[in-house]
Amino acid sequence: MTVQAAERERQEAAQLPEGDAVRTLLEQHARIRELFQHVSEAEGEHRQQAFDELRALLAVHETAEEMVLRPVTRKVAGADLADARNQEEDKATRLLAELEKTDVSSADFDTRLRQLEQEVGQHAEREEQEEFPAVRAGCDEEKLRRLGDSLRAVEHFAPTHPHPGTAGSPLRQWAVGPFASIVDRVRDAVRGRG
Ligand SMILES: [Fe+2]
Ligand SMILES: [Fe+2]
Repeated sequence: MTVQAAERERQEAAQLPEGDAVRTLLEQHARIRELFQHVSEAEGEHRQQAFDELRALLAVHETAEEMVLRPVTRKVAGADLADARNQEEDKATRLLAELEKTDVSSADFDTRLRQLEQEVGQHAEREEQEEFPAVRAGCDEEKLRRLGDSLRAVEHFAPTHPHPGTAGSPLRQWAVGPFASIVDRVRDAVRGRG
């Protein structure tokens, strides 16, 4: 299921122009699904490493969507759709923060990992079915490429750990995110994990 969804996302991404915002996001959705699979299959230190990669990518991906994509969604598809996606990301961030505090070798971790995977998977499907097509329909190719540039720029300074205080709010992400990110990145550097 996970692997098939990831394959479909990679195929869809490959049909879009290089640098296109939706292409970048679809590729990340595929990677996120693969990482969930890796975390659930791995054990011990390997599981911790796979989880660290998943946690950082999820934190960065959802933050970039909230900061760059959501304001466009609000314009082209309306506030209800934008708010619904932001709320799902807020929920996923809280689950991720709980999971980060849980020992990767405990039974609790498996339960919470499955719950997060389900939430994130459904959220990604809603983005792919409603939000991405609306953004593609509402923007020309040049605008989609510029949005892609903005996404990739934001990802360089987005927080690498979940921050339930800022998730779900593009305004708070812009105001607080960069400071949280500096703290995260220093913490990662000190611990030697990204
Ligand atoms: Fe998202
Ligand atoms: Fe997404």
